[in-house]
Amino acid sequence: MEQPALTDFRTRYGPWALVAGASAGLGAEFATQLAAKGLNLVLIARRKELLDKLGVQLVNDYAVEVRALQLDLGREDIDSVVTEATSDIDLGLLVYNAAISIIGPFFEATLEDHLNEIAVNCRAPLTLAYLLGQRMLKRRRGGIILMSSLGASQGSALIVNYTATKAYNRLLAEGLWEELRKQGIDVLTSSPSAVSTPGYLASAPRHSGRLSASTMTPRAVVAETLAALGKQPVVIPGWTNRLASVLMQRFLSHKAAIKLMGRVMRSMYQR
Ligand SMILES: NC(=O)c1ccc[n+]([C@@H]2O[C@H](COP(=O)([O-])OP(=O)(O)OC[C@H]3O[C@@H](n4cnc5c(N)ncnc54)[C@H](OP(=O)(O)O)[C@@H]3O)[C@@H](O)[C@H]2O)c1
Repeated sequence: MEQPALTDFRTRYGPWALVAGASAGLGAEFATQLAAKGLNLVLIARRKELLDKLGVQLVNDYAVEVRALQLDLGREDIDSVVTEATSDIDLGLLVYNAAISIIGPFFEATLEDHLNEIAVNCRAPLTLAYLLGQRMLKRRRGGIILMSSLGASQGSALIVNYTATKAYNRLLAEGLWEELRKQGIDVLTSSPSAVSTPGYLASAPRHSGRLSASTMTPRAVVAETLAALGKQPVVIPGWTNRLASVLMQRFLSHKAAIKLMGRVMRSMYQR
């Protein structure tokens, strides 16, 4: 049975949203824009002091309720920790934003580091989508946003495992979108290109010395992502990124695209 059209964001995706990876960058921006829409928030990250500071600001600015949960999303018991912290509230939206991004030659990182990247970037979004998605199905409404990356359109040297984890998120969300769309749950994957977040700025400028003109702000990326929820399975924020994506797919063979990404990454991250 199709859900009746629910136009009001808070009615459809509230009263509570959970943002995983909310202490900085896009996650903090998701929390801010969701609070502005009147949603109460569960904020997850490791840096509790940043979550608390953001929480106080959101309570003051938007009169919403905020719970800050200090948690390493690479842990194996995140399902029980999140269940215990949220069993008494009605969660209608999951934003899985946290990610580890190991940059450098594949064999310069340890296997343990790569496996931890998979735990945070793949195991945790799968776990939370499963856990919270079941709760949303019972209410027959809700939303799930999984962050991917435009870089996951093909494999890439120097971020080999990262792009593979981001491709996983995209495909997980696309499949769930189709499976859940007639049951009132909107699933979306967002694939930004470069965004001026602390995580990105801490890596790229040190190596390249400048930001590209197409680098987007977290505010613009989050606004485009939230606007796409409920309308489509995938969003690529920024028209220049959408154009670049179309052009790459139309005019480059997949092999050439992989090689091009390798050249771009080496120019950014290797001296
Ligand atoms: N920025 C870009 O250019 C860009 C481009 C394409 C896609 N994306 C995607 O967008 C998302 C956000 O990127 P961002 O640049 O905003 O990242 P960021 O600035 O590095 O922030 C990452 C967030 O995830 C949290 N986090 C990381 N590891 C965690 C862990 N083990 N447990 C709990 N929380 C953890 C961090 O909090 P704590 O450190 O406090 O734990 C922080 O709140 C990611 O999924 C990324 O792949 C970003």
